[in-house]
Order: sequence, then C-alpha cells, then structure tokens
Amino acid sequence: MTGVEVVETVEGLRSRLDAERATGRRVGLVPTMGFLHAGHASLIDAAAADNDVTVVSVFVNPLQFASDEDLADYPRDPEADMEVCWLHGADLVFAPSVAQMYPEPGVPDIEVGDLASSFEGASRPTHFGGVARAVSRLFDIVGTCRTYFGEKDFQQLAVVRQMVADYNIPVEVVGCPTVREHDGLALSSRNAYLTAAERREAPVLCRALMVGAAAVAGGETNPDTVSMLMAEMVGSATTGELDYAAVIDPDTFEAPPRIARAGVRLLVACRFGRARLIDNMAAVPA
Ligand code: PAJ
Repeated sequence: MTGVEVVETVEGLRSRLDAERATGRRVGLVPTMGFLHAGHASLIDAAAADNDVTVVSVFVNPLQFASDEDLADYPRDPEADMEVCWLHGADLVFAPSVAQMYPEPGVPDIEVGDLASSFEGASRPTHFGGVARAVSRLFDIVGTCRTYFGEKDFQQLAVVRQMVADYNIPVEVVGCPTVREHDGLALSSRNAYLTAAERREAPVLCRALMVGAAAVAGGETNPDTVSMLMAEMVGSATTGELDYAAVIDPDTFEAPPRIARAGVRLLVACRFGRARLIDNMAAVPA
C-alpha cells in the first residue's frame, strides 16, 4: 500500500490535472512502460523536483513493438512500480488500458520525420511511429506540462523533441542523463533478458563508447576511425552481434565529415541472445 493515486481513465486524469493547473500548479509527466528501475526513478526525481504534481504513466505500448518483438513477455511488476513511484515523489500513476489509450481506430499516423529513419528506426521500422502515437496521446491527455525523457534512448528523445516542435505541442521536453550500473552497463528493463554470461559481457558497450570518447578527446577528428575503434572493442570482447557503432551530429543524426569542436554523439547497438541493447555518449574534443 502506497500513497500514490492510480488513475486508469483519460477523463479521470484530465479532470484531476485541469483542477491542479487551475490553481496554478505545474504538472510534470514521466512516460514509461513500467518495470521501473533507477533510470526511471531519476526521471521521477527530476519531475518531482521541478513541478507541483508529478504523473508517471505506465503503459506497455503495443504499437512500438514489431510482431517478432517481445510484447507478450515484456517484463512487468505493477506493485514494485507503485513503490518506486511513491518513494521518488510521484503523486499520480496513470495506468490506462489499450482501449483508453487508443479508442479510435484509423487515427492518422504522426509524421516522425528524418530523425526516425536511421539507426533504431532502420533496425525497427515501425518503432518510432508507435512511440510517437503513445507519447502524443499522453501529451494530449495530460495537457500543458514538463515531460522527462532519458538520454539513454537518445534517438527517441530527439524524435520526441522534433514532434513537439513540428506539431506545436505545449510541453517542455527535459532530457535526463543515463543511469548506469557500477560496471557501466546502462540500466534497461531489457537487461532482465541477459544470461549471466551475457551480463558479464554487456558493459563492453559502455567501454566502447568510452574508448571512442577518449579518442575524440585525444584529438581524433575522423568519425570513421572512431566508429572502427568502438566496433573493434565490441567485436573483440563479446559474443554479442554488433548492429551499429556510429558517430553522429546530435542535431541531424548524420555522420559529420570531420569531428568539430562542438563534438558529436557516439551510438552503439548490440544483440545478445534475447536482449538487444543500445547505449550512447557525448564526445567532445579536449
Ligand atoms: P521505457 O523503456 O520504460 O523508458 C521510459 C523512460 O525512461 C525513457 O525516457 C527512457 O529513456 C528512460 N530510461 C530508461 N533507461 C534509463 C536509464 N538507464 N537512465 C535514464 N533514463 C532511462 O522509452 C519508453 O519506455 C517508451 O518508448 C515510452 C517513451 C514510454 C513510450 O511508450
């Protein structure tokens, strides 16, 4: 039993938040798919610190899973989620059904633009369209708010920012740093799929990013050299299958011809048996 109020209907949440805003209180929203860990908790902490009312949405969004992905066995633990929300200062948990989230069939797709076509978008072609549908629906239900997203999913953060700008949505998007295990592995609900042996190998993603960032800090300006260093590191230290190791301009998600003073973002994705893991890091010349 916790002090967090659970709301399951759109009308219930809207009327509750409209009443809060009418008295001048500011609303913070943390969208999640549940199975909350310390990464999610850091977003709740940030939202609770900045706003008067913090809403955490917990909705495993079927639209962002391809038919061969893990929707049916996506990990869930609603009771533990409540505890995390309560401990980190959330006021409301919005836990809608699929029918509440998507009452009308045939709603036009959200245009996610060029940022969504490469990397995660290339590996998972329907993914960002599904994310955009869920997130835009949440923004519509919650109304004017600040909303908190993790840099862990760097491309998702960029796609959401772009959608907010393109559709003039009255929310302020706040990006929050990646929370990691002590050995560098970025926290993810999907880490639960790793075998013990894969779990020992998985921090290589973070180590590869650190090697890439160190090369950039040390004066390397050729993006191909940095990508190769990261790919070699992942290839040499794991049975996982590298999907990509890339150097991008964080505004366009395109490879820059040279690494300039403003720096770049390093991205990696790797499949370990059942778990496909992604990670990223900023790299700035010293
Ligand atoms: P989910 O994977 O549950 O993640 C919810 C939020 O937590 C995202 O903004 C994600 O970037 C952030 N997050 C995950 N791991 C993190 C970590 N280690 N450090 C910091 N933040 C982390 O992302 C989704 O759900 C969905 O796509 C969603 C946006 C809810 C739309 O359905």
